[in-house]
Amino acid sequence: MARPGATRRDHRRAAVPALILALLLLALPAAAQLPEPDRAAGLMAHGGPVRALAASPAGIASGGLDQAVIFWSPTGRPITVARWHQGAIEAITAIPNAGWASAGEDARIAIWPATGATTPDLVFEGHQGPVAALSSDGTTIASGGFDGTVRIWDGSGPPIIHTGHRGAVSALLHRAQGVLSAGQDGTLRAWPDGTVLAEFGHAITALTTLDATHIAAATVDGTVHIIGPGGREFATSPRPVVALAAHGSMLAAASIGGDVGLWDWRAGRLLRTLQGPGLPVWSAAFAPDGTLWTGGADRQIRRWDAATGRPLSESPVAALSIPEDADPHGARVFRACQACHALTPDAPPMAGPHLHNLFGRRMGSVAGYAYSERLARGDITWSPETVADLFTRGPDIVTPGTRMPVQTVGNAEDMAALLRFLQAATR
Ligand code: HEC
Repeated sequence: MARPGATRRDHRRAAVPALILALLLLALPAAAQLPEPDRAAGLMAHGGPVRALAASPAGIASGGLDQAVIFWSPTGRPITVARWHQGAIEAITAIPNAGWASAGEDARIAIWPATGATTPDLVFEGHQGPVAALSSDGTTIASGGFDGTVRIWDGSGPPIIHTGHRGAVSALLHRAQGVLSAGQDGTLRAWPDGTVLAEFGHAITALTTLDATHIAAATVDGTVHIIGPGGREFATSPRPVVALAAHGSMLAAASIGGDVGLWDWRAGRLLRTLQGPGLPVWSAAFAPDGTLWTGGADRQIRRWDAATGRPLSESPVAALSIPEDADPHGARVFRACQACHALTPDAPPMAGPHLHNLFGRRMGSVAGYAYSERLARGDITWSPETVADLFTRGPDIVTPGTRMPVQTVGNAEDMAALLRFLQAATR
């Protein structure tokens, strides 16, 4: 079998759906600048657009074009950052009563525990190109991607491989009647036999479960098709739909480069569109409590009140205590960091180490924090100069192999303010 890395380029040239290519191009450059401090209202987490999101009672998992998978508590506290994949993340799914599966450009499928981890419990390999879709019912995991195959894994050996789609597989769902797959070829198929349940004249970009008898499929022309008894279609946008998510009678449809519509799918009626920062979004998921989570092109994760279409502004992490005498400009810049870093040693565990007594501290020296190998080496001592270098050149350049997201502070005034803030707030 060819190594995924060796085949990736060829597959991209041959089979990349125009939609995904457009998404990848939009994502460049991967090392984005931090947003204007006042706009940093979401949960800053990824070093690139957030392409995949999944929700379960355990929390949220997000995946970005920055190759990171981040595990969040149900209230939006980042728990673990996993930099294990070797390419952009294209798909994440919750495994009912277990954990998560993630996959993407590197053709590998990683299985994670519900609480998250920095290395996966299990890895499935074999796809001959990027994996664009995942689904699970808790017993098996279905995967599909640019190689046009649907693979069913039960963890006990090689997968069952189904072929039939002409072109990439873009979405998958586990249903009572079997695994359903949707493709660039515009067909919706049911496995194991590959029966064509529906055929649209356009590539299918997303699928979601609505209830026991209905599912929704979105096509690249911006239409959402409700499939099931009394099925209907409605045009959400003239642009391709990149993400679908449903909760009860509500269906969220996000279009590429555009807005997120909240629809009553039974009536085919637009209820409202999301109003606020962080649009366009690239991924969406409803938590079990009905909160809508979105992942944006701006690298942030946001929570929305689906009943009003407004962002749930105060994230729990924003409530971190910040010393009163700390530089206010620097405190705003630090909002990009506070999702992952506490300022005091006694704070509950977060995705990154606490920054108490940062200046003068050897890199990788907080006892009990599981650093990456690169930071554990401890060959840098943190000072205003070395921290400035870290966020001028970027953690990926200064400390390659680190799990910290790709990010830089581009503006000299913001950098000076951040350092003033850290000097006061980490003492
Ligand atoms: C999404 C989470 C996340 C965000 C956002 C984040 N970091 Fe980190 N940071 C981490 C992780 C994870 C590590 C440990 C990385 C490793 O072990 O490779 C880390 C490590 C560090 C370290 C080294 C600490 C040590 O003990 O050696 C510093 C300094 C740091 N971050 C500062 C910042 C600053 C300043 C910001 C904002 C501009 C920021 N981080 C944003 C997750 C994050």
